[in-house]
Amino acid sequence: MSLAQANPLGVWQSRSTFVFALAASAVGLGNLWRFAYLTGEYGGGAFVITYLACLFLVAIPVLIAEVVIGTHGRGNPVAAVRHASDRSLRSRGWMILGMLSCVTAFLILSYYSVVAGWALAYANDMQAGVFDAASAVVVGERFEQFLRNTDELIYWHSGFLAICAGVSALGIRRGIGALVWLVVPAVIALLFVLANFALEAGNVPATKAFLFSTKSMDFTAESVLMALGHAFFTLGVGVGVGISFGAYAPDRIPVVRSVMVVAVFDTLVALLAGLAIFPVLFTTNMDPAMGPGLLFVSVPYAYGNILQGEVFGPLFFLLVVIAALGSVVALMEPVVGMFVQHAKLKRLTSVSVVALLAWLLGVAVILSMGDGWLAQWNLFGFLDQLTADILLPAVSLLTTIFVGWRMRREILQLELAREPALFFWLWRFLLRYIAPLAICVIVAAAFGFL
Ligand code: TRP
Repeated sequence: MSLAQANPLGVWQSRSTFVFALAASAVGLGNLWRFAYLTGEYGGGAFVITYLACLFLVAIPVLIAEVVIGTHGRGNPVAAVRHASDRSLRSRGWMILGMLSCVTAFLILSYYSVVAGWALAYANDMQAGVFDAASAVVVGERFEQFLRNTDELIYWHSGFLAICAGVSALGIRRGIGALVWLVVPAVIALLFVLANFALEAGNVPATKAFLFSTKSMDFTAESVLMALGHAFFTLGVGVGVGISFGAYAPDRIPVVRSVMVVAVFDTLVALLAGLAIFPVLFTTNMDPAMGPGLLFVSVPYAYGNILQGEVFGPLFFLLVVIAALGSVVALMEPVVGMFVQHAKLKRLTSVSVVALLAWLLGVAVILSMGDGWLAQWNLFGFLDQLTADILLPAVSLLTTIFVGWRMRREILQLELAREPALFFWLWRFLLRYIAPLAICVIVAAAFGFL
């Protein structure tokens, strides 16, 4: 009999499923449209090393802390934090940490699924050959028109969310657990195929110069901040996914090593994505860019104008869709779990409610783009900033304080019993001192104080 209480929501099939689930949640749009570009712009090799330092010294310790709350609390973020604070004889006010996690997850979910819908639409366009031999201007205009076409945007957003809700409704084992066994191998296979193609057909020297040379001139204080911010975002820290997924883990998993494997995998995916994108971009003389402009203008143009692009272009967007699928299903989970446990809803009902609410907010996001009737609001930018600059850092900071300073040391030791003592000591040190400091620095910088 183990000391851990049973999780009323369910348990993963195996330890590997836990690792795969965390990996599938971490790999997302951020890996594809952000990392390689940041590397190229903010100092090449120097940026990568700084990013790795931020990952290991700050982001990984926080994700481990989330997973520990989960493995100890065995429930959705709110219930898990309540259990953990009760056991450590702390105030139940800490439940706010769980609630904020769920709110953040929900807000990210709503606009992330809108963008994932774009990827679905572009996968469809790509395989129909819409971008074959199109000029850069045409591709750019098409994206602008697409963003103004409210009906089409709602269509793809609904489609994507419906797929995710379907998977989630199937449950933790048959739904999410099965999906991640598909997502992770598919991401690896597609990336290898695409990177291999890009390295053969694309401009490798220009890519090398962009990504791998160390440009000390470009490496500034801003690079450090970007590296830190990206390390948090790409691991998916601060939305309670670590708590939820940790809560479904079988007893006594090697938490520290599992999270490290996920972080390394996530970084390799981001690097490989760079190798799949930039050689093709440079062959077709596109300027590097980041965000939607990279994924929905530069990439379709580049793949539309390279030999055999009609084969590999659709595969690239398939990769984007699959990567987003793992993230969106993960983002639903904290909120779904909360409804199941606290509103006593069935899983199916709970998933439907969450999907419906996220759908509504997503539609509002769509209506606030282009010429929609909420156009003056720019809800997309607002939600993006609210989550990235305020909520994610706030939740992460609360997590470091709660787990680092408030949870009893014996409990933490028990949860990390499978890890060497050195790991435990190092983790707790980073969580108590380094991570909170780093988070305060990001926030101060985001608000222009640095
Ligand atoms: N890590 C995801 C990406 O790289 C985005 C993300 C941020 C996320 N927070 C998350 C995904 C929480 C799942 C859960 O695109």
